[in-house]
Amino acid sequence: MTAKSHQTPDFFFNTNSPEETFALGKRIACMLSQGSVVALEGALGSGKTQLVKGIALGLGINENITSPTYTIISEYKSSDSSLYHIDAYRLNNERDFEDIGGPEVINSNGISVIEWSGRIQKSLPENTITVCIEITGQSSRLIKISGVKEI
Ligand SMILES: Nc1ncnc2c1ncn2[C@@H]1O[C@H](COP(=O)(O)OP(=O)(O)OP(=O)(O)O)[C@@H](O)[C@H]1O
Ligand SMILES: [Mg+2]
Repeated sequence: MTAKSHQTPDFFFNTNSPEETFALGKRIACMLSQGSVVALEGALGSGKTQLVKGIALGLGINENITSPTYTIISEYKSSDSSLYHIDAYRLNNERDFEDIGGPEVINSNGISVIEWSGRIQKSLPENTITVCIEITGQSSRLIKISGVKEI
C-alpha cells in the first residue's frame, strides 16, 4: 500500500533547555545532505539560532555560530560541504532575497538553514525541511519538523 507515500509525516519534540534544542539540531544534521534546505520558523528568541548551532556541530563545524542579522548570509565550511546560515528577518520579500543572490545559494550544493524563512516563502524549494519552534514556557519549546521521513 503506497497511497500515502508522497506525504511526509510530522515529528514533534518538546525541549526543556537550550542544550536540548542544541542536541535536536545535531540530530537533524544527520538527516541532511548536500543541497538540503531547512526553513526555521518561530518567534524572536524561540531558539532558531540555538538549533542552528547544533546543526553546525552535527555537520562537523566547530566555529562559533552567530546570528547573520546584518550580513544576511554566513558561510561555514565543513569538510565536505558548506553550511549557509541565512537570516531573512531584514528582508521584505523574495525580491530582496534575489537581489543578494539568495536563490543561487539555496540551490547550490551547500546546506542552507534559514531563520525567518516565511519572509522568502516563495523562494524555498519544494523539498524544504521545515522546523517550527513554539515557545511553551520560559525554557520549554515545542518543535515541529516536517519534510523528513524519519529523524
Ligand atoms: N528549550 C529551549 N530551546 C532553545 N532556547 C531556549 C530554550 N529555553 C530557553 N532558551 C533561550 O531562548 C533563547 C533563544 O535564542 P535564539 O537566539 O536561539 O533565538 P532565535 O529564535 O534565533 O531568535 P531571533 O529571532 O532573534 O534570531 C536563548 O536565550 C536561550 O537560552
Ligand atoms: Mg536567531
